[in-house]
Amino acid sequence: MRILIIDNDVDLCRSMQAQLRAEGHRVDFVHTGADGMLRLASDSPDILFLDLYLPDTTGLRLLKQIQDMKCDTIIIMITGVQDAKATIESIQSGAFDYIRKPFDLDTVLLVIEKAARHIKNRRAVTGKEGIPISPLENPYEIVGSDERIIDVLKTIARLSENRVAVLITGESGTGKELVARTLHNASSPLQPFVAVNCSAVVPTLLESELFGHEKGAYTGADSARMGKLELAGEGILFLDEIGDMAQDLQAKLLRVLQEREYERVGGSKLLSFKGRVVASTNRNLLEMVSAGTFREDLYFRLAVSTIHLPALRERLEDIPALTNHILAHLNRELHKDLREIEPGALQRLKGYDWPGNVRELVNVLTRAALLTRGHLLTEHDLLDALEPPYSRPGNDDSFKTLREMEKDHIARSLQASGWNITRTAEQLGVTRVTLRKKIDDYHLTRARFMPVGRRNPIERAAYRGMEII
Ligand SMILES: Nc1ncnc2c1ncn2[C@@H]1O[C@H](COP(=O)(O)OP(=O)(O)OP(=O)(O)O)[C@@H](O)[C@H]1O
Ligand SMILES: [Mg+2]
Repeated sequence: MRILIIDNDVDLCRSMQAQLRAEGHRVDFVHTGADGMLRLASDSPDILFLDLYLPDTTGLRLLKQIQDMKCDTIIIMITGVQDAKATIESIQSGAFDYIRKPFDLDTVLLVIEKAARHIKNRRAVTGKEGIPISPLENPYEIVGSDERIIDVLKTIARLSENRVAVLITGESGTGKELVARTLHNASSPLQPFVAVNCSAVVPTLLESELFGHEKGAYTGADSARMGKLELAGEGILFLDEIGDMAQDLQAKLLRVLQEREYERVGGSKLLSFKGRVVASTNRNLLEMVSAGTFREDLYFRLAVSTIHLPALRERLEDIPALTNHILAHLNRELHKDLREIEPGALQRLKGYDWPGNVRELVNVLTRAALLTRGHLLTEHDLLDALEPPYSRPGNDDSFKTLREMEKDHIARSLQASGWNITRTAEQLGVTRVTLRKKIDDYHLTRARFMPVGRRNPIERAAYRGMEII
């Protein structure tokens, strides 16, 4: 059992901790109500021993506050002989039981046993028996048993034995970067993995990012700089969102791939490129080739071998395994202790169509994990996480201005695509520039939907220390 003691008597806390630890329990203590609330919010214990007298509040008041948090923690009051009235009141307010000072270990163990029985029965009665979350085995694993995922794994294994260029395609959030990194781990883990996001930077900057530049190559180039081609060494150069690369840069890249030689911007020395190119895109490059916006010769250089990732809605059967994997990850990254997920919650996840794919699943589960207090991720927590703040009841569309409607619609589309600008712009039928302008205009920020920043906690953990621009 995980046990928390809130009592200002330091000796009592220490001795209870030592004795209960010896019985195999995990025991923490704090001495004030304020610290107690913080601790309860960050990790919810199975059992709380709560003193009636605290320096900053009363046990009774705290009890009521904790009841409002609706966590599953069982509360046992610690009372004194003269506290009969307060004791009764606390039981009426929802405390599970009480122990009277001074008490011995047996009394405490007895009440813990009673609480444990109660927890078990409560689960059986409420049907809250969840599906257990098994521990994280391999954080970098590509999870899934869909045959297309199995094929992807086989292809990665095959490609790890050679150095041909690879093009990874798939909708936003389907795991393209994960596949690129997995290929890297399988083939050249000791060499660099250098990622370049071709849609993130303006073309001229991208050129110097890729090729590097000499001192004075352009205004502001105060010193020479190595490009990503150089930094990649004999490792992998990951060209993310290659479909967004400007045409003149496509031509320059093609030359590197053909000749394996290039110069820094403003330089004349020939440098040789020894890396392996892995590119990714969520756009249909062949269509772009037909439309004349992507060079055909570059396409064939990049797509020597291709890996296509299925959308999540095409493999909903993988959702339980993915959910388990992601929650186990989040436990570690967010210091949570989720142990089970309600079957209803899993059903909800399987019933959604996931336009933002696995990335959206990670985001939803991250929000749900942050909302969850107990060890069980409930359907209720999940619904709160699935429902964006702007579409809650009471936020009635009929009273909105056109501007507000547009703002909400853009926000929703961005969220669904995991803030993929290219994809959202395509869906909304505007250019990326227009979309960016509107994002600025409406002050839309990713943080509103993703409390955890640009990358989700899983990516941040997996890609820690790896180079990215
Ligand atoms: N099969 C999978 N197993 C486990 N985790 C996955 C899987 N596919 C994707 N993920 C996770 O989903 C998130 C998004 O993956 P990734 O960044 O690789 O997608 P992407 O296709 O590059 O997305 P985007 O197009 O938005 O850049 C990451 O946290 C990644 O770890
Ligand atoms: Mg990506």
